[in-house]
Amino acid sequence: MNKNTGVQVGPRFDAAAAPKIGAGDFTQDLDLSLDELNDLLALTGRLKRSPRDFRDALGGKYLSILFEKPSLRTRFTFELAIKQLGGDCVTSSGPIGGREPLKDVARNIERWTQGIVARTFSQKTIDELARWASIPVINALSDLYHPCQALADVFTIQEQFGELRGLKLAFVGDGNNVAHSLMLDAPRLGMDFAIATPAGYEPNSDIVAEAEGLAAVSGTKLLVTNDVDAALAGAHAVYTDVWASMGHESEAEQRRADFAPYQVTPVLMDKAGPDAVFMHCLPAKRGEETVDEVIESPRSVVFDQAENRLHTSKALLLMLLA
Ligand code: CP
Ligand code: NVA
Repeated sequence: MNKNTGVQVGPRFDAAAAPKIGAGDFTQDLDLSLDELNDLLALTGRLKRSPRDFRDALGGKYLSILFEKPSLRTRFTFELAIKQLGGDCVTSSGPIGGREPLKDVARNIERWTQGIVARTFSQKTIDELARWASIPVINALSDLYHPCQALADVFTIQEQFGELRGLKLAFVGDGNNVAHSLMLDAPRLGMDFAIATPAGYEPNSDIVAEAEGLAAVSGTKLLVTNDVDAALAGAHAVYTDVWASMGHESEAEQRRADFAPYQVTPVLMDKAGPDAVFMHCLPAKRGEETVDEVIESPRSVVFDQAENRLHTSKALLLMLLA
């Protein structure tokens, strides 16, 4: 018991005992093995239940947060995560490596801080930073992946249903970075995964092939289709994201026309399983990929997802930096 606050405080978490991530970086989803992914989900649960037990776990560690694109959730949650774990951070917005080669940026930053969190236009920028920096590099969203988002999402589904194995996650909309990351985590965790996109907006074929391999190993179903009804049938979670991701704003008008039948409305939600939750990484464009009646409904868990970004970011930092 803390004498000043009366708050019950448990034993301090021993940072040295944190599970580790063998890859040393989190440049994309598969940098985390299945065991490491399960360790991260378990550690996230502890962090969410007893945050004060972790308050000095990363004391004296500093994080470099480099964002080429806007952010609310990812930037706030990584900044708060490192600070609540006893460390601190430096954040910069704008092109990474505009004034000097990425290999020089990486070899400067590693002399001052213990980790890099980068949001980039191109996955190549993340990979190049990871190649040259001797400190962990975390992908905070690129054109291809949003692996930190997927961690919070699978944690949120687990919270809602108690377990992941045997569930079905349906993604409706653009075959984008968020869809790719979910597609790489869901099958490994024993979930069926279906994605319905308009023709021409299917997910990256190399990533689909990887996901198919993972689904074959875990014995789960993976469906890539243009048919919304087929994707939604029996789904426990219905997920959507913006139709025009950052970097694709100039295509927004064309996309509004192409994606119109894929808007997640109450009628579409009724085509999923009876207890299906609605998910969105946010920010959402109401009136495009979904509508107020869905996002504000009791089925919506979008703010749980947003909250859980903080807890999964902490777990990831502990596993990479402790
Ligand atoms: N979901 C998500 O990554 O949000 P931000 O773009 O605000 O970070
Ligand atoms: N797919 C979106 C996700 C934003 C969090 C984008 O890349 O803009």
